[in-house]
Amino acid sequence: MTASNQRDREKQIAAEAAADLVEDGMTVGLGTGSTVSFLLPSLARRHRAIRCVATSPRTADLARQLNIDVEPFTTIDRLDLAIDGTDQITPDGWLIKGGGAAHTREKLVAITADRFVVIADSTKPVELLRGPVPVELLAFGLGSTLRRLNDITLREVPSSPDGGVIGDYHGPLVNPRETASLLSNTPGLIEHGLFPPEMVTMALIGRGDRVEVMTYSSE
Ligand code: A5P
Repeated sequence: MTASNQRDREKQIAAEAAADLVEDGMTVGLGTGSTVSFLLPSLARRHRAIRCVATSPRTADLARQLNIDVEPFTTIDRLDLAIDGTDQITPDGWLIKGGGAAHTREKLVAITADRFVVIADSTKPVELLRGPVPVELLAFGLGSTLRRLNDITLREVPSSPDGGVIGDYHGPLVNPRETASLLSNTPGLIEHGLFPPEMVTMALIGRGDRVEVMTYSSE
């Protein structure tokens, strides 16, 4: 098996384990990315009576093609469960997300859920987070925000579905909580891709043929 096939297999078994957590009657947040693209068919095969919100137009389209009911995330004010991939996860449950630029919606969906479950292959766990940290910036005042933060590069990608400008913060990341606080307190910065452990209930990591279960603060 090639390394890429092995990673896909790990994503698949992590996604299956997460789909097993979904029960009839639940409201469910669907993340974005290649790992979530394994989750959606797993979920569809179970034919659960669920209501979903999606963290990106791409996920909403894929889910609808599989007959998964996706609603706008406007009036729903709580979710039973949200399931999403990650770019990195540390042993104590810090995440970096936003490789696919969906971190603003992903964080809002994750924080709305009673349980936020991360699914990943075995390349995602890291001892220490490595930058850069994805960010979404308001176009209004962009020059000012870039000058104040100083360590941001902009990606050559389309704006987010909410009109935000996507970039990456290359500043210090020795203490993720301090970096998260700095970014959260910067006017003009809409959201960043650092997710603290208190947001994460559980991680399901595919390793070879088995799924490692890590539990964090709220489980
Ligand atoms: C999207 O912006 C990201 O946060 C993804 O959830 C994250 O990059 C994981 O993506 P993969 O499952 O494709 O690795």
